[in-house]
Amino acid sequence: MQKILVIGSINVDFVVSSKVRPKIGETVIGEKLTVTYGGKGANQAIAAARLKASVSMIGKVGVDFIANDVLENLNKNNVDISNVESIKQSETGSAHITLSDGDNSIIVIPGANNCFEKNFIEKFSQVILQHDFVIVQNEIPAFIVEQVLDFCYINNIDTIYNPAPFREIALDTLLKAKYITPNEHEAISLLKTKNLKEIVKQYPNQVIITLGSKGAMYFDGEKIVKVKAIKTTVVDTTGAGDTFNGALAVALSKDEPLFKAINFANVAASLSIEKLGAQAGMPSLSMVEEKFKKL
Ligand code: RIB
Repeated sequence: MQKILVIGSINVDFVVSSKVRPKIGETVIGEKLTVTYGGKGANQAIAAARLKASVSMIGKVGVDFIANDVLENLNKNNVDISNVESIKQSETGSAHITLSDGDNSIIVIPGANNCFEKNFIEKFSQVILQHDFVIVQNEIPAFIVEQVLDFCYINNIDTIYNPAPFREIALDTLLKAKYITPNEHEAISLLKTKNLKEIVKQYPNQVIITLGSKGAMYFDGEKIVKVKAIKTTVVDTTGAGDTFNGALAVALSKDEPLFKAINFANVAASLSIEKLGAQAGMPSLSMVEEKFKKL
């Protein structure tokens, strides 16, 4: 079995469900608070592990009331946490999510996710080299993402870089990622053009733009390919992108062709939005296979 490594964030998500989203300066009465597990890194790791991949994670948590729960959750979901460290000087990362009308807005407090060491590659090079596929995102420091993309490129390890949330990165470093998976806003900001077709055309089989309910698009070298999303009842879109990335890594690490891998990731992402919370709806392999049969 291919080994997937996720280097990324681990959060606790405070999700406020409300019929109305408050405007600036306004107070509204909401409906419910759900405290649950999240973090783009942890979400992607769990998404991949539920799909029966062998998954490890490098990340940081605090030493606080939530850290043990968060670690236990990763463990229970079959993610190897032997390289997740507890940081005394910082709290576990948290996300403060307003959920209204099936869509979310999020403020992330990185906390321990910011406490990666300067000698990261030196410390974890052997761990990274033991994996076939590495996923990184932007809820950990920029210098770590850059070092990881660089190191994996030199050592021929396939990477998915999910540039979320958006932040600047030098183009030559960005392009060291084997696959780049921005949403449309991130793609426009990263590649400095509003024309999504132009963007994918420049980076064949490398930039895969996720389009929410419209699916995903990429350029296969000859034509622009749109992979349709699967229609479903939306409860909470939080974590859909993470499920997409985790599932994509699973399919690609099995050497599936890109179109098939994106289709698989789309199906997994569509199942993930049927439940409240980033991880609650992430499907098992049999659920994805079942859904495929019905399509
Ligand atoms: O992508 C969704 C995730 O973003 C949430 O789980 C939250 O923790 C934020 O990091």
